[in-house]
Amino acid sequence: HDLSRANTLGLPCRAERFFEPLGVDELRVALDLVQREGMPLTLLGGGSNLILPPWLPGLVIRPAMQAWWLEARGREVLVHAEAAVVWHELVMRLAARGLWGTENLALIPGYCGAAPIQNIGAYGVELSDIVESVHLIHLDTGCEEVLSPAACAFGYRDSVFKGSLEGRVVISRLVLRLSCVPRPRLGYADLVGRLGAEPTALEVAEAVCAIRREKLPDPAVLGNAGSFFKNPVVSADVAGRLLDEYPTMPHFPQPEGRVKLAAGWLIDHCGLKGWRRGHFGVHERQALVLVHFGGGNAVELLDFAAQVADAVRERFGVSLEREPRLAVPA
Ligand code: EPU
Repeated sequence: HDLSRANTLGLPCRAERFFEPLGVDELRVALDLVQREGMPLTLLGGGSNLILPPWLPGLVIRPAMQAWWLEARGREVLVHAEAAVVWHELVMRLAARGLWGTENLALIPGYCGAAPIQNIGAYGVELSDIVESVHLIHLDTGCEEVLSPAACAFGYRDSVFKGSLEGRVVISRLVLRLSCVPRPRLGYADLVGRLGAEPTALEVAEAVCAIRREKLPDPAVLGNAGSFFKNPVVSADVAGRLLDEYPTMPHFPQPEGRVKLAAGWLIDHCGLKGWRRGHFGVHERQALVLVHFGGGNAVELLDFAAQVADAVRERFGVSLEREPRLAVPA
């Protein structure tokens, strides 16, 4: 089965076997087969934060259940979204209904089921701010479990699904808590300038879409996985030393006294914005995004990314950590 269109980087990939369960029961049957036959298993969502190798042995499962529904809770609403609900489409529907909470996360590609794994975030909001619970199924037993936000251990682009639960569960449903009462979060400088005094949730979502369209390449046109590196969090000493030399460097103090830097700025200031080598490049409008012009593969991409990270380490002494995950069959 050809998966080159199932990943937004557009990397060539073939899977030995591919299955799209339409419900939790079908998913359980497939997991049971995997267990009994000792087959390698890879889970796929929207493929927007994933680096796929040319060949995936065994079975690739991409959950296909797409129901979502609302549950009233006074002035709040619980939104239940099954794994394959397209995140951006859900965000726009919720914003159009005047529900507050997801609007800053408009236009993030991918499926709801994958959103908690890297705790998607943008424009001052992270998914963890609005998660009520995450439903999952254990790969080995087929048993369902519902995790509280605390049990998800959310961090910046991080969660338990990248830690102790990695390769052990499949997320079947995401439950969010949204507000019927206006709750705009406009702290991000780019946003305020575009909106009136009392914007609707839909206006905020549309402003976010406009900003993203200006900076970020559309994966349907140019292969990419959004930010390719995390923004590095460094010690106050390191940040202070860099700020002495580069006073205009963007920096964001974190609760524990550490400082988050902008990886896009660091790459940009190595002169790499728009740099192209072979089939890959650094995006010309946002240096944190690596793009695939077509014809390349995962090995070349990782090599290209290593060169970018090396340049930043040499110039600034800061290490960059990769953001998209490598698909490795479990
Ligand atoms: N900058 C540059 N040159 C560049 C890119 C950025 O100088 O080429 C500077 C900007 O001017 C700004 C700072 O770096 O001062 C930060 O840039 P930006 O606001 O574009 O955000 P980011 O830190 O690069 C993060 C997320 C994005 C998210 C935006 C908006 C990460 C790894 N990335 O990017 O998320 O959309 O903030 O909140 O945290 C993603 O994860 O795929 C993603 C796109």
